[in-house]
Amino acid sequence: MVNTSHMERPDLKIEMFRRLISADGAFVSGQEISQEFGVSRTSIWKHVKALRRDGCRIEAVPRSGYRLQANPDLLLPFSMRAKLRTKTIGQRIHHFASLKSTQAVAHRLAQQGEPEGAVVIAEEQSGGRGRWGRSFFSPPGGLWFSLILRPPLQPQAALTLTLMAGVAVAEATKRLGTLPLLLKWPNDVFIGGKKVAGILGEMIAEVDVLRYVILGIGVNVNVRSESFPPDLRDTATSLSLELGHDASRSEFLCRVLEHFEAYYGLLLAHGVRPVLDAWRSLPSILGSEVSAETPEGPVQGKALDIDEQGALMVEAAAGKVVRVLAGDIHLLRLKGTT
Ligand code: BTN
Repeated sequence: MVNTSHMERPDLKIEMFRRLISADGAFVSGQEISQEFGVSRTSIWKHVKALRRDGCRIEAVPRSGYRLQANPDLLLPFSMRAKLRTKTIGQRIHHFASLKSTQAVAHRLAQQGEPEGAVVIAEEQSGGRGRWGRSFFSPPGGLWFSLILRPPLQPQAALTLTLMAGVAVAEATKRLGTLPLLLKWPNDVFIGGKKVAGILGEMIAEVDVLRYVILGIGVNVNVRSESFPPDLRDTATSLSLELGHDASRSEFLCRVLEHFEAYYGLLLAHGVRPVLDAWRSLPSILGSEVSAETPEGPVQGKALDIDEQGALMVEAAAGKVVRVLAGDIHLLRLKGTT
């Protein structure tokens, strides 16, 4: 029989981390944990060293125990699992220091059978992908991740899923404070007229069924103004710039995934209505004057509503209502301004 008492156990590492965080700067007794889990104190020490290697600053004091000196904002699987209150979304996390794009890795994993809810995170991306083949600036300090979904839905539902991701990001943002938030259809999140987050929905589908969907979500959480390339400085912002202080990326990610899971459950149980209503209830371009570049040509007018499929209804010239199912929207005049 193998003696496993000294081996590294992921569950114990998570539990240690959880307790150190909940102790809120107080000491956690190594002896108590070792007794509770039926492992040696050497094993506990081994897990503390593993946490230190992951970037946690943990003080060890004989007879007092262990204390977290600084709560590190780690996006590593074990620290996320200690904080995340979801059942499936985000319960599997693949974390990378640097990737070309989390989308590519998520597609590969999905093709290999990775289950629904798995998330691919990169601390930075060298070739971040945006909508319409654009590149997406993704330096360290931001949150760049792709979520794998396998919804038992028709391909038309994919747009609703991307709207839902926008709602989840907007709701997580709202919890940080009162910010002049705006959802730009289909799913960009703006603060004070500048883009703070973008969402890229990609799907592999057959005519009547979705095989899988990859939702790529990029949020400028703690991106400094000087980090933005000159061509983005007037149009992009970050949560830290708007708040005046850094925000916790791990907390933010947890909130996004939790909101997403709640809406995903509603979508599967009750259809698109709750998601569309949530989108409508947030500050958005609805009621504003927009121009849309669509595959069918340009459309200009007032954004009236989103329909049952999530398409944007625009009241164009002579009161003609145009349904925009795909396109790039420019805000010409915000509702309530002259
Ligand atoms: C857009 O605004 O055009 C969509 C941007 C989507 C960016 C995210 S960051 C994580 C994921 N990986 C990528 O390469 N793109 C998405």
